[in-house]
Amino acid sequence: MTVEKKDLDWGSLDFGYRKTDYSYVANWKDGEWDEGGLTADHEIHLSECAGIFHYCQEVFEGLKAYTTEDGSIVCFRPDMNAERMYNSAQRLEMPGFPQERFIEAVKQVVKANAAWVPPFGSGATLYVRPFMIGSGEVIGVAPAPEYQFRILVTPVGPYFKGGLKPITIRISEYDRAAPHGTGNIKAGLNYAMSLRPIMEAHRQGYAENLYLDSETRTYVEETGGANVLFVKADGTLVVPKSHTDSILPSITRRSLVQVAKDLGMNVEERFVEWAEVASGAFVECGLCGTAAVISPVGQIDNKVYGANEEVTFPNGKDEIGPVMKKLRETLTGIQDGALEDKHGWVCKI
Ligand code: PLP
Ligand code: COI
Repeated sequence: MTVEKKDLDWGSLDFGYRKTDYSYVANWKDGEWDEGGLTADHEIHLSECAGIFHYCQEVFEGLKAYTTEDGSIVCFRPDMNAERMYNSAQRLEMPGFPQERFIEAVKQVVKANAAWVPPFGSGATLYVRPFMIGSGEVIGVAPAPEYQFRILVTPVGPYFKGGLKPITIRISEYDRAAPHGTGNIKAGLNYAMSLRPIMEAHRQGYAENLYLDSETRTYVEETGGANVLFVKADGTLVVPKSHTDSILPSITRRSLVQVAKDLGMNVEERFVEWAEVASGAFVECGLCGTAAVISPVGQIDNKVYGANEEVTFPNGKDEIGPVMKKLRETLTGIQDGALEDKHGWVCKI
């Protein structure tokens, strides 16, 4: 499919919302989803008593569509987003959106907005945001009786300003998620929790917050919008695990673990104590996620509860380090069709 692209300055896009031509919408009522379809109406009209406004029944996803070198349009592992959104919905007592239909809806809405999928090599992508809300009326604390599933798409540039320049982040004194709470699902309520800490971080000059486990404040969990990766001096990739199941199962992270193994790297998925990071055990650090891709971290500060630690990563302080660079290039190469897709991750639209 070759379409004429919109006349935008693709290279200077930031991570912002820009209305496109179509969204996808489906509604759930009386125990079933309607047929669903495309809409050019980007507004939602709801009762003041809709469940979303009172008890925060909302879950969402994030994935990207890319133009490959030959001009076709693809997206990356939408089956994984379909599955995670299904699980997120179950946790909030919302009806799961059928996973096959999710994939079909993503394809339909991306295809309808093909002119908005940034050209190959522009550095921009089409961000795809499926979400579901409690749309029916509810006043006592209970699941809403009706739901709306939507997908909006918007062309975006890099999530962190400065693109590949290593960022400095800080440990937050706030918690992102309770132990065994909702940290492992993608629900808007987790991000509401992170707004105060992210604004405070920005006011202090930091790009993001690193959250330690909220039970013991000992282990590294993740940041507000991405999982964390470390590299040891011997090149081993170290991927933090959570003993309270409060890290979001990032699709990018799970893909990178496979990519690293395919590249012959040693990978350790295990608990990582902040003390290990602070002792200088790692030479590189990065954040990974759909929006973040891999964003290198040059420094993590811990000024919480009277501490005064500034941890730098010697191989990735001034520019992205060699291991993060290799992983990033391999992943984005698979995503935009430049490298072989051994695992069948790329989904043609
Ligand atoms: N962790 C959090 C809290 C996120 O919001 C995201 C973004 O989706 C990720 C991790 C990365 O997940 P994924 O790679 O599936 O986009
Ligand atoms: C994503 O990476 O898709 C996310 O949803 C993260 C969000 C903080 C933008």
